[in-house]
Amino acid sequence: MSLSVSRHLAAVTAFAVAGLLASTAPAALAAPTAVTAAPVPPDIPLANVKAHLTQFSTIAAANGGNRAHGRPGYKASIDYVKGKLDAAGFTTTLQTFTTSGATGYNLIADWPGGDPNVVLMSGAHLDSVTSGAGINDNASGSAAVLEAALAVSRAGLQPTKHLRFGWWGAEELGLVGSRYYVNNLPAAERAKFSGYLNFDMIGSPNPGYFVYDDDPTIEQTFKNYYAGLGVPTEIETEGDGRSDHAPFKNVGIPVGGLFSGADYLKTAAQAQKWGGTSGQAFDRCYHSACDSLANINDTALDRNADAIAYAIWNLGASTPVPPGPSFENTADVNIPDSPGAAANSPVTVAGVVGNAPATTKVDVNIVHTYRGDVQLDLIAPDGTAYRLKNSSGTDSADNIVASYTVNASSEPANGIWKLQAKDVASADTGYINSWKITF
Ligand code: TRP
Ligand code: ZN
Ligand code: CA
Repeated sequence: MSLSVSRHLAAVTAFAVAGLLASTAPAALAAPTAVTAAPVPPDIPLANVKAHLTQFSTIAAANGGNRAHGRPGYKASIDYVKGKLDAAGFTTTLQTFTTSGATGYNLIADWPGGDPNVVLMSGAHLDSVTSGAGINDNASGSAAVLEAALAVSRAGLQPTKHLRFGWWGAEELGLVGSRYYVNNLPAAERAKFSGYLNFDMIGSPNPGYFVYDDDPTIEQTFKNYYAGLGVPTEIETEGDGRSDHAPFKNVGIPVGGLFSGADYLKTAAQAQKWGGTSGQAFDRCYHSACDSLANINDTALDRNADAIAYAIWNLGASTPVPPGPSFENTADVNIPDSPGAAANSPVTVAGVVGNAPATTKVDVNIVHTYRGDVQLDLIAPDGTAYRLKNSSGTDSADNIVASYTVNASSEPANGIWKLQAKDVASADTGYINSWKITF
């Protein structure tokens, strides 16, 4: 980690600015803010959804061109989704089954909280066919459901219902994963479902806007979203029961979902109201090698991702969760250059009932001339370390101004928490300017 002159000059400026901020820092204990307004569903960033699509495309390219059941690209897709959810505070469960001579996987993610007896589940199949990467079918649904789940975490949403998310294996072999999940739900668990929302193919390149008509309340929720946009919808009829909602519906669970079309042709009337090309399939690359990153209509993907969040926020009958109390340390703590001891900045937490939440937030402000040198941990009162950030020989930017979400739900909140910063490469140096923990 060499010290370049330009980086050094930039760091001097940052030192001055950060120093100014520190001197005007607010009081150590901020009172919780009460939120009384109705929860507003978030606008899901299209760029985030597309970044997941890019990852799925890369995974397919690195694994023989597909993400099909029993192939390495499928398991790599599962690992990617699981990693994102674990980091965001979800409780994830990998369910395995065997079909066509290979192990299949369903990934289930539970958002802590809500009424455990009233479950709202949203899901998408994560497998592709063997002929291609399966970006519209069904990285689109997988990515949008993932980003909706991450939005739940970012919002710290605490709905009245318990939220669950699922990514199904072996849909393309006949809804195998979702059927396995439903068949293995004890009757008492099935009875807790207030609904299952399915998203399979929601970014078709010549899109239609189709709403499943299985349950009137869920159907109306999606129609309300689209009415707000002024975009007409139609009932989904391209082969009812051809996706993972069918096993849920078959055991009496209310289902709904969205679909932008597969190999049926767009009619002239549909092209009139939605644009696009009449006489052409909604997805000409359906189940083909060309179902790649280019096979996505961004507008359809964006609208449908927002519709998922709208439905979860509304059907989850959510009530916003005010941020809990915050505690911070604004005193500067020097981080000795490598090979030196780790720096510790303590914060004393008192008066918080129970354990820290699954979404304990840690805001960090570190001034440094090469942030890749720094390895960061949150140290709980009992000494448990939660890694916030690894060191990196290539992350050559300066300061660390970042927010981390830590699942610290096994830790009592009260006690002395520490931000621990260790410099692992010589030459560049810095200090902990301030940090804050929010419960
Ligand atoms: N499930 C089908 C697949 O993955 C696609 C499909 C066809 C579909 N018709 C549908 C999905 C209706 C949802 C609704 O190949
Ligand atoms: Zn599909
Ligand atoms: Ca250093």
